[in-house]
Formats: sequence, structure tokens, C-alpha cells
Amino acid sequence: MPRATFTFPAGFLWGTATAAHQVEGNNLNNDWWAWEQQEGRILNGDRSGRASDWWAGRWREDFDRAHETYQNAHRLSVEWSRIQPEPDRWDENALDRYRQMLLGLKERNMMAMVTLHHFTNPLWLVEMGGWENEAVVDLFAAYSRRVVQALGSHCNFWITINEPNVLMTGGYVGGDFPPGKKDLKTGLKVLSNLLKGHAAAYQAIHEVQSEAQVGVAHHWRGFLPANKNPFTFHKKNLYDKVFNESFPQALVTGKFDAALLKENVPQAKNTQDFMGLNYYTRELIRFELGKRTEKLSERPFPKDAELSESGTLANDPEGFKACIKWARQFGKPIYITENGVDDSKDDFRRKYLLQHLHAMWHMINHNIPIKGYFHWTLVDNFEWERGWTQKFGLWGLDPATQLRTRRKSADLYSEVCRTNSITSETVEKYCPEVYNRIYPV
Ligand code: BGC
Repeated sequence: MPRATFTFPAGFLWGTATAAHQVEGNNLNNDWWAWEQQEGRILNGDRSGRASDWWAGRWREDFDRAHETYQNAHRLSVEWSRIQPEPDRWDENALDRYRQMLLGLKERNMMAMVTLHHFTNPLWLVEMGGWENEAVVDLFAAYSRRVVQALGSHCNFWITINEPNVLMTGGYVGGDFPPGKKDLKTGLKVLSNLLKGHAAAYQAIHEVQSEAQVGVAHHWRGFLPANKNPFTFHKKNLYDKVFNESFPQALVTGKFDAALLKENVPQAKNTQDFMGLNYYTRELIRFELGKRTEKLSERPFPKDAELSESGTLANDPEGFKACIKWARQFGKPIYITENGVDDSKDDFRRKYLLQHLHAMWHMINHNIPIKGYFHWTLVDNFEWERGWTQKFGLWGLDPATQLRTRRKSADLYSEVCRTNSITSETVEKYCPEVYNRIYPV
């Protein structure tokens, strides 16, 4: 049986990623909380409630979990509606609580990466039209400036916006995120405002902190043509252009080109110090006459695809390689800011995790400068419109009792983080099913 150790570069960052609304609990003052109160918005009528109870202090025990399993970094987000509960008021207590969290990471020798915007908006902003109203650009920059002034002595690693493309499609194409519209034209305007907001925040952050490293967590999704129909190719190219390309290309060129909306945004040119990548899956794109949108229940994947528990993600490490190869063109250091899978039983996750880490190792050995990996996620959390139905955690969570249960994947990931490598012993011990895939004969 072939044996080998795949070693990662010295100083590689290993962590998990979380987002405020999904873990803190009681985020009463944002659009998602309001959305959860509306009937039919969230699967099972679930609500974020106490979430993983971080605001009440459970971040401490969860950071311990991360630290004890040899993670040396953590990506978390701060909640705009807590820090700026009203347009003319900063909440120093909220900032202080985040300061404690960042200190908590420091004490555990974990590097912090902070996201300023992860899907949620303060209610006062929503009343003004949210990201549809260009006034948001300056407001977001002012908020970012305030956060960096307050927390900059504990962090210099910032993500302005998480997945602008998902925020846009969720809120304006699928309609399963607030504001629940199906209006692509407005959605593209929102995407362009997110770009302007990012650019303004990028400048503001660098004004406050010259050594800051600033990026975006970009969701890259692989789109594969399902057939040879030229309309299918056309549709695939359109998805690539709008979803995968428009935002990150504008960060280089200052030209926003989302097919149906083109704009010069010169202030966005050269506004990323690193590339953050969120990768989960690839999927098939198919054009069918008379059928406008795919339903979640008919998610298109190749026939032989291994699908996650909910059937919404495929175990497709080749797609991860394609994503990383694509990102190489930007010539920046790359951080995998999210990657993971829903699996309450935790057998699928172990396969997915090992194969994706192995794919990432391959890409590093093609001289692609990947500097860190943040698994989604540490402890099960509130998964947006899917409520509590999807379990992405290395630890399981019962939100009612707040009881955490360690999954085998936590041990597997711990071995990788501890040794900074994938060893044949680790694969054999935690996931012998994929041994032949990782060590083919
Ligand atoms: C989002 C996370 C989310 C994860 C898994 C990503 O698109 O950034 O907030 O929980 O996917 O669904």
C-alpha cells in the first residue's frame, strides 16, 4: 500500500469560519431576525434564537475547542446592527465585547480574521432601502472605519463583505434571503453598490491601519454544462460572468461588467490585498425551454455525484482545484475562507474534508500561494433560510440545550492542524474509504 505525507507550508493558517448572526443569538436589530419572524421564510419555521449562544459568552468554550484541536486561526464576523444600533450611535459595549473575543483568540495564539458584513443589515439601514440605496456606500465605510479604530490593535486581517454574489442572488433572484425580491435588475444595482461599499471600506480601513490586509470572501461556484445545447453554454457563461467573475474582476480593473449592468467603478481598482475563496461545490447548468429556474429539490448534479445529506452539495474536490486555479490569475495570496459540508452523521464530511484538503495541497504544490484554510464551521449553527436543518459543524449542537457533541471530523481536522500535514495514518484511521483516492496504486 503506498504511503506518503503531504506537508503544508510552514506558518499555514488552520481554522474555522463563523458568522455573527449564525452563532451569537438574539440579534434582534437586523433584517434576518425580522425575516425569521415571517411565516414560511425559514425551513421548519426555525429561528436563530440563542444560536450557538456566543453573545452570552459561549465563544469562550468554543474557542477552547478550536485551540485544543490545534487550530491557529479563526474567522468571525462582527454585527453591524449591534455596533451601530442607530444611525447616530455607536455601541461601545458591543465593541468591547468583540474586543474581548479578539483578545480571547490572542490568548489562545490564534490569528483573527474579521468579516465586517456577513449577510445581515441593521433595520435602520433596511428602512432606507438597504443596499439598493447608494447612500449605504458611505455608511458602510464609516462603520468599517469605526470597527477598525476600535479593534485594530487586535486584528489586521479584514474581510469587508462576505459573498456579495450570494447576498445578491439570495435577496434578489431566488428571493429566499431578505428582502425576498425576484428582480435581477435591482439585484445588479445592489451588487454594484456592494462593490462601491467594499472599495470605500478598503480605503477607510487602510487610512486607519496602514498594515491592514483587506479582501472579500468570494463564493466561487463551478458551473458545468449539462449538455451540448448552445443555449446551455450561453447560460453557463452568463452565470460565470455574473456570479463568479463580475465582482472579483472589478477589484482589479475598476470595471464592473455583469452583462446586464456595466459600470465604471474606478475606485474599486486594486482594492484587494488577498483573495478570500469560499468553495462548496460545482453544479450542472442546463437550459430548458419554458423552464425559468431550477427548484432546490431538483438540484442539478452529475448522476454519479456523491451528494451531502441535504442533497445540496456534491463532494467534488476537482471543482475545488478548478476554483483555486481560477483564483491564481489575481496574483494575490489566497485564503480559503470557507469550505465544508452538511452532514449530521459525519461520514460524508470526513471524506469531503480529506479530499478537499488533499486537493488544496496539490494546488499549493503547483506553486499557488494558498496561505490558510478556514473550515465551515466549528459548531453547528443557524443556516439562514435552511434554519437548523443543515449540520455543518465539527461539533454538533443541540440549540435547545446548547449541548455540543464532538464529531470524528473534529479529531481528523485536529490531526491535520497538529501535524500541518495529511499523513497515511490519518487517512487510514479516520477515513479508510478514501485511501485509494488519496493514495492511488
Ligand atoms: C455562507 C455561510 C453559510 C454557508 C453554508 C456560505 O454561503 O457564507 O454563512 O452558512 O455558506 O451554507
